[in-house]
Amino acid sequence: MTPFKLSAPELLRATLVGLFMLGSLANCPAESSALPVLQINVAQVNAPLPPTFYGLMTEEINYSYEGGLYGELIRNRAFKADTIQEPIKPENYDPAKNYPAKLPHGNAPKFWSTVGTAQISLDTNTPLNAALNVSLKLDANGATKQNPAGIANSGYWGIPVQPKTSYAVSFYAKAAPGFNGSVTVSLESVDGKTVLASARVSGVTGDWKKFTATLKTRAIPASKENIFKLTTTAPGTLWLQNISLMPPTFINRANGNRRDLSQLLAEAQPKFLRFPGGNYVEGDYFSERFNWKETIGPVESRPGHRSCWGYWSTDGFGLPEFLGWCQDLNMEPVLAVFAGYTLKHDYVAPGPKLEPYVQEALEEIEYVTGDASTKWGAQRVKDGYPQPFKLRYVEIGNEDWFDKSGSYDGRFAQFYDAIKAKYPHLKIISTVGYEHPGDQQVHSRTPDLVDEHYYRSEEEMESQSFVYDKRDRSNPTKIFVGEWATRVGSPTPNMAGALGDAAWMCGMERNADIVLMHCYAPLFVNVSDLGAGRSMQWKSDLIGYDALTSYGSPSYYAQKMFSTFQGDEVLAVSAQNLPTYTWIQTGRTRNGVAQPPRTNEVKSLFYSALRDSKTGKLIVKVVNRADAAQAVKIEISGAKAIAAQGTATVLKAENRDATNSLKAPKHVVPATETVDGLGTNFTRTFPPCSITVLELISSQP
Ligand code: AHR
Repeated sequence: MTPFKLSAPELLRATLVGLFMLGSLANCPAESSALPVLQINVAQVNAPLPPTFYGLMTEEINYSYEGGLYGELIRNRAFKADTIQEPIKPENYDPAKNYPAKLPHGNAPKFWSTVGTAQISLDTNTPLNAALNVSLKLDANGATKQNPAGIANSGYWGIPVQPKTSYAVSFYAKAAPGFNGSVTVSLESVDGKTVLASARVSGVTGDWKKFTATLKTRAIPASKENIFKLTTTAPGTLWLQNISLMPPTFINRANGNRRDLSQLLAEAQPKFLRFPGGNYVEGDYFSERFNWKETIGPVESRPGHRSCWGYWSTDGFGLPEFLGWCQDLNMEPVLAVFAGYTLKHDYVAPGPKLEPYVQEALEEIEYVTGDASTKWGAQRVKDGYPQPFKLRYVEIGNEDWFDKSGSYDGRFAQFYDAIKAKYPHLKIISTVGYEHPGDQQVHSRTPDLVDEHYYRSEEEMESQSFVYDKRDRSNPTKIFVGEWATRVGSPTPNMAGALGDAAWMCGMERNADIVLMHCYAPLFVNVSDLGAGRSMQWKSDLIGYDALTSYGSPSYYAQKMFSTFQGDEVLAVSAQNLPTYTWIQTGRTRNGVAQPPRTNEVKSLFYSALRDSKTGKLIVKVVNRADAAQAVKIEISGAKAIAAQGTATVLKAENRDATNSLKAPKHVVPATETVDGLGTNFTRTFPPCSITVLELISSQP
């Protein structure tokens, strides 16, 4: 071992830390004044870090897809946002049947307004097809050259327009006899002063026909205070459906994704995508579940459905688009199938009545993995994805510990047996993890994995970050942490959230022998109109955006640091003298009865150590959640030498409330610097409220 040695800057830092610690007793190590020590044994690999350890999860919540990742810029393009909800009970519900949406005939549709003298209404008598069983009737009989009549849409809290960019417009239209004019589509500033781009289409007849046009902007400044207009100067009556405006998408995928959001995700290098939910796979009622067969094929053949988060989804972002998203970012799909249980506690008991849903799941797996010779594989090819997708994990439902009927064990078993019989290589995930009482867990089969969910405060995340170190290693069932987040900060987490997250990720990495993969949730929030019933349904989401711009929260950057500095081997680390802080936990209840506050001593320093077996680099992650700097001794055994020079990537903030926003998107971001004075035995001072990744170059003995 190299003798303990401090470089001049380290020495200065250590002295300053000493002073800091004197002045900040609350953050002093409670048990000892000795420096914390991390002992990393390079010769002991505790587990491989699975290449698919870091992934993504979200669903149609917070306008994540529509008004978010999905490129579509027109809100309520299919006029079904006014659908009248009629919950259907499972006993009256036939999974093979399409239940046409009921719409209020004659009302003006949501999110559309009139231009000039136009009058608009929902027309259920002139549908485009069975899926889009309503149209917008445009009475433009007062239209003149000087006074065009038509409709306008202001998108999802604005329509983003970029300079020198082409936007693809498409829509279906038909007209009453006598109309022989053209239709103009345009992008205009909200104040009506500037036409940013426009195009004309003609040939509308008495039959439904699809029209397309391109709107090309000039060298204008980027803005979102714009509207889309469709007008005519010729008098007449028109019917319209599926009015779409698509910007250039990520990798130019047709019906694809927004570029800036995709780019943020790509930079974090996620390796899998859990979809379609979450609650979204279940729906409030059977008639509102994610019925995958209604989300495939051309978008105008998809009826859409109401998301359990309270708004309509056109399902333009359907099963093929989830797969396209996987393909674009090189992620493996983790497929959650509907398992006969919904959020309002309706369920189908195991047995013959559940069988159609089991068959549906098998067909869904075939859609994802089958080749062109299979029925559903061929459909996927038709939908634009010629290559079968590699699938290893299938999850049966979502959070079925909510199901108090006791039906989950039987439902899980029925899906498990059928899937294993046809696809023996697939790993099946139960949605009831070991954080729930034993009587809710699956016992009749051995799940390959269980999905555990943790939404917690910073203090809870930190106090639980050693929980997996104590888990039973003899259990053959592994863990998928399919949803987790430190919920501090809204709409997106602040530095406290990032600290809790990083502490938690250290715990998962150290325990990668049993935790095989995990994903933060939810991923996205549209921050345009915060508040219940508006653009946000769930606080603390990784990435925020409005129509035009986006930003990553401190938690996003913590996530990115952990997933991009990954390595593939988890090294043994032991720790001594870890400092603690006192957390007085209030607001506790037991069986609905308020409990007195509880005092907890929680560790304030967290760590994990990994190695990249190809480069030999060691990756040491240290989280100092304290408000004071903390010196830590790092002792490395099992390596011949550690180069004196390495790098440190540090995410830190002036305090734990610091955050990022649309206005200050890069206030808290990591910075990488070269560091000296490293070796097999060194002391490093970690700044207050900081997350550090050290990269060390090692030579083996
Ligand atoms: O991520 C938000 C929600 O939290 C998910 O839909 C659900 O699975 C969990 O309760």
